[in-house]
This record gives sequence, C-alpha cells and structure tokens, in this order.
Amino acid sequence: MEAKKIPEVILSSGQKMPVIGLGTAAIPPPPHEALTSILIDAFEVGYKHFDTASLYETEEPLGKAVAKALELGLIKSRDEVFITSKLWTTDAHPDLVVPSLKTSLQKLGLEYVDLYLIHWPLRMKPEAKGYHNILKENVIPSFDMKGTWEAMEECFRLGLAKSIGVSNFGIKKLTQLLENATIPPAVNQVEMSPAWQQGKLREFCKQKGIHVSAWSPLGAYKTSYGTNTVMESPILKEIACARQKSTAQIALRWIYEQGTIAIVRSFNKERMKQNLDIFDWELSEEESQKFSEIPQHRTYHGVCFVSENGPYKTLEELWDGDP
Ligand SMILES: NC(=O)c1ccc[n+]([C@@H]2O[C@H](COP(=O)([O-])OP(=O)(O)OC[C@H]3O[C@@H](n4cnc5c(N)ncnc54)[C@H](OP(=O)(O)O)[C@@H]3O)[C@@H](O)[C@H]2O)c1
Repeated sequence: MEAKKIPEVILSSGQKMPVIGLGTAAIPPPPHEALTSILIDAFEVGYKHFDTASLYETEEPLGKAVAKALELGLIKSRDEVFITSKLWTTDAHPDLVVPSLKTSLQKLGLEYVDLYLIHWPLRMKPEAKGYHNILKENVIPSFDMKGTWEAMEECFRLGLAKSIGVSNFGIKKLTQLLENATIPPAVNQVEMSPAWQQGKLREFCKQKGIHVSAWSPLGAYKTSYGTNTVMESPILKEIACARQKSTAQIALRWIYEQGTIAIVRSFNKERMKQNLDIFDWELSEEESQKFSEIPQHRTYHGVCFVSENGPYKTLEELWDGDP
C-alpha cells in the first residue's frame, strides 16, 4: 500500500517542506549501519523529511539511506526528499561556514541540502567538537552573527543550501539578524511542544514570514535529556483516551494545527508510522482549549551555553527573556 502524502508548507525561499520530519539525534548515536536500516524503515512508512546536523554524527548513515531508498525505488529522485542539516557552534565563524557545509554534503553524499541552519546563536572553540565538548569553558566570548549569516547566504547563492535558517533564536536575536540579512531566515527550529508552547515567539515568526519547526515535540520522552511533561500529561492522556489515539498523536496533531512543523524522532517502525497518522482527523475546539491548561516547562535549558566569558551571562540572555 502506498504511504499517504504528508502536507507541505511553502518557505519564504519558495521551497516546499513536509510538515513532519524525522529527527535523527540520539545520544549516543546508533551504529551507522543500524541507523541506515532504521532510516530505510522511515522511507518505507512515508517520511520524506529528515533532520540531521554535523553534531549528531548521523549525516553519513542518512546519506546512505537516501542512496538505498533510490536504489530500492522508495523514492524516484533526490528532489523528493527534504534534508536539513546544521552548522555546529565550533564552525559558527564566517570563514568556516561554507567549508563546514561542504563537509556535511560530502558525508551525506549529496550536492545540496534543502535547509541549512545555524544550530545555536553562539560560537565554541573550533577544536571543541562533539557532544562531550558542550561545556561552558568552550564557549567563545563573541558571536559574529552578521558575518556568520552572510556566509550562510553564500551557501544559498552557491546552491549548496536551497533554504537557510536558524535554530534556538529568540525574538531579540531574530530582530538583530533581520536588520542585517539580505536573505531572511526561512525557518527557526526551536523547542516546542504542548508543554512548551512558545506562543510569543511563534507569533513573531509568523509576522516575519519565518516558519517555526518544533524540536523535542514529545519532550524528548525517555531520552537522557528528556522529560515526561508531554507524554505523561494527564490532559493529553485524557484526550488521547477519549479519541482512541496515542498521546504522541494528540501532541503532534496539535503542533500541526498551530501551523508548526514537527521534527519528531522515533527509531521504531510502528511508532514512526503512528506519528504520521495525524492528518485525517482533527481536534475539537474544546480539546484545543484544554492545551492552555498544560503546565509550561522547557525540556532543555542550555545551561552549558551560559557563562561569565560567553556572550550570554544568564539564561534570560540566552533565550531573549522569552517565556
Ligand atoms: N535544533 C536543536 O537544537 C535540536 C535540539 C534537540 C533535537 N533536535 C531535533 O529534533 C528531533 C526530535 O527531538 P528529540 O529527539 O529530542 O525528541 P522527541 O522527538 O520529542 O522524542 C523522542 C523520543 O520519543 C520517543 N517516541 C517517539 N514517538 C513515540 C510514540 N509515538 N510513542 C512513544 N514514544 C515515542 C522516542 O523513542 P523511540 O525511538 O523508541 O520511538 C524517543 O525516545 C531530534 O532527533 C533532532 O533531530 C534539534
């Protein structure tokens, strides 16, 4: 049976982006071969949008899965797939952006990514690569946002990225970026879920024509950095039970109804399928209203990005004081 088509949004670049993408971040990442096989499962159940980053060490297995999906006829051409990758903080320097994307493309075995994002609005020492180096002492005092964005624009002009954007930018930082940008960011990828709704930031992005994509839409359930605030929410569980849906489906459907793109990670074929099965039903007005009662908490605070020597001395500064 052919997989159902996932709805798409049109980005300010004119590119179409499927509203659900499969996340690939896991700590530790699965062995490459195992991940390639998991990602083939994702193609089989209908995913066309994949989220990777140089940090995640998942670019190579994703590239192999794309090649295999073509070979197996799961997709007819590379153009049918939407691939996002991200510039890690160690390379968030004007001179390092294009080379870093070229390295990502080499790992992916692709000519271009569909979307390239600045992963975080800060810079770390170039040698401090990998998850284990995400430490306060590796954050560099200044972040050249203007110069780094100009290099992102160069990636677009060179045809290496069809769209460019940012991740983890609050309103103040987006405002600053927009003041200097020739090409506005198409996407801001931030934590967003029923338990961290980001209403103010989403409204700002909407006004500026920036699409929001939601990371950890299920609160990174059962991961080393996650919470159960989404999946164990009594409100979501009650709606799920009444509607005979899973809690994950209720959360993802709500995100979709907010006009936000969900980047959800499952490495289990059944749950991958379940997470896509949200497009032929809707939440009632009464159910939607209940979401305003869900307690609000971030899953990931980014404490290691806040330091006396870095550009952000407090969490308020890191997150632009957004609730
Ligand atoms: N830009 C950034 O700074 C940033 C930060 C964090 C994440 N991200 C991206 O966003 C993606 C998603 O976020 P995330 O991985 O942190 O968290 P998430 O998608 O909210 O949650 C992932 C967890 O939920 C479980 N899960 C998925 N579907 C489920 C279902 N239907 N029922 C029960 N459990 C389910 C998964 O387990 P199973 O695999 O066992 O199903 C996994 O443990 C990442 O993989 C990454 O690509 C970006």
